[in-house]
Amino acid sequence: MGISLSGRSFLTLLDFTPDEIRYLLGLADEFKRMKRTGTPHRYLEGKQIVLLFEKTSTRTRCSFEVAGRDLGMGVTFLDSGSSQMGKKESLADTAKVLGRMFDGIEYRGYKQSVVEDLAKYSGIPVWNGLTDDFHPTQMLADILTVQEEFHDVRGRKLTFFGDARNNVANSLMVVCSKLGMRFCACGPKELWPEESLIEKCRKIADETGAELEFTDDPAIGARDCDVLYTDIWLSMGEPDELWAKRIELLQKYQVNKELIAQAKPDAIFMHCLPAFHDRNTTVGERIYQTFGLEAMEVTDDVFLGPQARQFDQAENRMHTIKAVMYATLK
Ligand code: CP
Ligand code: NVA
Repeated sequence: MGISLSGRSFLTLLDFTPDEIRYLLGLADEFKRMKRTGTPHRYLEGKQIVLLFEKTSTRTRCSFEVAGRDLGMGVTFLDSGSSQMGKKESLADTAKVLGRMFDGIEYRGYKQSVVEDLAKYSGIPVWNGLTDDFHPTQMLADILTVQEEFHDVRGRKLTFFGDARNNVANSLMVVCSKLGMRFCACGPKELWPEESLIEKCRKIADETGAELEFTDDPAIGARDCDVLYTDIWLSMGEPDELWAKRIELLQKYQVNKELIAQAKPDAIFMHCLPAFHDRNTTVGERIYQTFGLEAMEVTDDVFLGPQARQFDQAENRMHTIKAVMYATLK
């Protein structure tokens, strides 16, 4: 195909062509096969990567660690409590130091400008492991999962229910636009994506045949829908005081049996995780005690039901992150 991503950073899917995205998905599929058949693939033996986390993580951190080791690389983990970054050393200085020691940097944190500056000052590939604006490695895992279900993703309708201007929803709008899908943001108007991002996606959609839809009516979101997607109602970094307001705004967008029944008969449910589908977490229990909700964005029966694909997505995080590191470091 003649595609090379060698030396590139992976900061947002806006920077990648549809062919480049499909190339990464193809690589991920190959890596998944190799992992499943126990075929060694230590293609990046001797390289070193560092993972910077300013927010907590299970899937993203483990995916980078396992994928890095499977590829034969050394992996160093740093969180904000155990490095100088930001407190005693500027971002630019930190990036320059890391660029002298490592071959690649993963960053999870707040502003998108931070991950962009890391790439600018380090001179090595930087991978966005989630910022307030985007979560691009999640998208590759999600589309791989949709592809495994429906093969060709073009023309499929994916509806995001809930806080439709968070990092995951923004990124889904971008990737669906790039790949000619039908993206629907379903939530209250005040939580729709920013107009400037919608404009960018509309331009991409004009070229790819994608369609974008925005609605505050859950029935419209579910109509003719292939993928019902949701995420937590309050993202990392947002203050706890917002829970009451978010619950009030988003309760009617909960993905439950009644909503799924309005979608296509073979529709699937997706969630990037972690999810509040029961009371088995400290936050879930606190929300129950305060607001009387047994579940938030998705009910337990849907989460445990036959349409649920969230654990396939979680596994696919590792295969797709491996593809991104391999493609940019090889
Ligand atoms: N989906 C996701 O990014 O999960 P973590 O926050 O556990 O990394
Ligand atoms: N929107 C969520 C995604 C977690 C993977 C957050 O930012 O907390």
